[in-house]
Amino acid sequence: MLTIKEYVQSNKDRFLEELFALLRFPSISADSKYKEDIVKTANFVADKLKEAGADQVEVCPTAGNPIVYGEKIIDPSLPTVLVYGHYDVQPADPLELWDTPPFEPTVRDGKIYARGAADDKGQFYMHVKAFEYMMKNNALTCNIKFMIEGEEEVGSANLGAFVKENKERLKNDVIVISDTSMISLEQPSLETGLRGLSYVEVEVTGPNRDLHSGVYGGAVANPATILAKLIASLHDENNHITIPGFYDDVAELSEEEREALNKAPFDIEEYKADLGIDEVWGEKDYTTIERTGIRPTLEVNGIWGGYIGEGAKTVLPAKAHAKISMRLVPNQDSEKITHLFKKHFEAIAPPYVNVIVSPHHGGEPVVTPTDSIAYQAAEKALEEAFSKKPIPTRGGGSIPIVALFEKELNVKTVLLGFGLDSDNLHSPNEKYDIANYLKGIETIPLFFKYYAELSK
Ligand code: BES
Ligand code: MN
Ligand code: MN
Repeated sequence: MLTIKEYVQSNKDRFLEELFALLRFPSISADSKYKEDIVKTANFVADKLKEAGADQVEVCPTAGNPIVYGEKIIDPSLPTVLVYGHYDVQPADPLELWDTPPFEPTVRDGKIYARGAADDKGQFYMHVKAFEYMMKNNALTCNIKFMIEGEEEVGSANLGAFVKENKERLKNDVIVISDTSMISLEQPSLETGLRGLSYVEVEVTGPNRDLHSGVYGGAVANPATILAKLIASLHDENNHITIPGFYDDVAELSEEEREALNKAPFDIEEYKADLGIDEVWGEKDYTTIERTGIRPTLEVNGIWGGYIGEGAKTVLPAKAHAKISMRLVPNQDSEKITHLFKKHFEAIAPPYVNVIVSPHHGGEPVVTPTDSIAYQAAEKALEEAFSKKPIPTRGGGSIPIVALFEKELNVKTVLLGFGLDSDNLHSPNEKYDIANYLKGIETIPLFFKYYAELSK
C-alpha cells in the first residue's frame, strides 16, 4: 500500500498527461458550435471515472448538455460524499491575448496554461485521481458519488430538474466542490460563502431606424448616450447601488465578524500591481476583502450599440444594449433583485427612449457552515497537507447549484478549492499551478479519512 504522497510522486506525469487530454477538448458551453466537443468531453470524463473504479457510470442526457454520473458504494452504513464539478468552460476569446493557444495546454514556470485549467477541469479531475488512489490502495473510507455537469458556466439551467428527478440516486451526507480559490500554498483557506447572481440584459430604443448623425443629431435622443447615463446613475458618489430596496435584505456582519474577515493576509499593493491599476474602487467604508466577499455589487459585463467596425461612420444608433450582473449576498433573493432592477430601470428611463429589461439566469447566495464535521474534516486535511491551519474566507464568485442542493437535497457543501484568485479564470491565459493540482490530489483522501472518522 502506498501513501497518497508516494502515489502522487510515482504517478504525477500520468496525472498531468490525463489532465492535458481533458483540457484539449474545447468544451465551451456558451457556444452551440461546440456541442460535439461537449459530448466528447462528457464521454472522456465517464471513461476516466470507470478506469478509476467507479460503478454505474452514466452520461446522462438532459435538455442541454449531459451530466456525468458515477459512484462507488462500499457500505451503505458509511457516510456518502457527493463530488460536484463542471467539465464545461468559458469561451476563450479574446484569442489574440493568449500567449499559447487555450486548448493546447502548455506548462510554463510550473503552471498549466489552458482554458479550464483551474475552472474547473483541473480542480474536479483532482477528485478523480484521488478516488483512483483510494480505490487502488484500499483507502476509500466513505461511499462516493460523482456528478460532473456541463452547463455551469451558462447558469446550470437543466441541473435543477436532474437533481429533482434523481433525489434518491444523488442522496448524500455532504457535497464537496473544488471550484473556488484558496489564498496560497503557504496559507490554505476554505471559502465559506458564495455570492448569488442576478443577470439582466437591457435594450434602449430611440428612433425607429439608425439616423444620419448630422441631419438628426442634437435633435433626437441618442440611445447610446442615454444608456451610458442610466448605467452611470446606478451607483452614487459613494459607489452604493441606487436601486431602491436593493440593500433591504443584505445581512450585515458584526464588527467582530468583519474584523476576523479582514485578518486574512491581503496585500493591497500586490493586488494593484497584479491588475495594473493605480487605485482600487468600491463601496465606501468597506475594504477590498469585504467588497468582494460580503457586499453586493453591480457590474456591466458588456455594452454595445451603433457603429463599432473599422473607420468612422456618422450615425445616431436606433438602439443600445448592455448586459448587467449583480452579485448578491445573504439574504438577498435573485428574483426579487431582478424585479427591483427592472422596476427601477424602467422608472428612470426618460420619455424620449424605450427600455426593455430581460432577465437571464440567476442564483442564490449561500454561506456554508464552519461548525460541521465536514468542515472540520476539510480543515484537518488541509492542515496536514499544507502544515498550516486553513482560514475561512468569503468567495466573490457564484456556484448557484450550492443553494439548490441545499434546498432540494437538504445537504450542505464544503468548498474545498485549490485555485488562486490570480488564475485568470474567464480571462486569457487561465492557469493552474501544478503544485496546487498535486497538493489537491494529496489533500482529498485525507478529507475522506477524517470525514469518516468524525462521522463515527
Ligand atoms: N468556479 C466559478 C465560481 C468561483 C470562482 C467561485 C472563484 C469562487 C471563486 C464558476 O465556474 C463561475 O464562474 N460561476 C459563474 C456563475 C455562473 C452562474 C455563470 C460566476 O461566478 O460568474
Ligand atoms: Mn467553476
Ligand atoms: Mn467559471
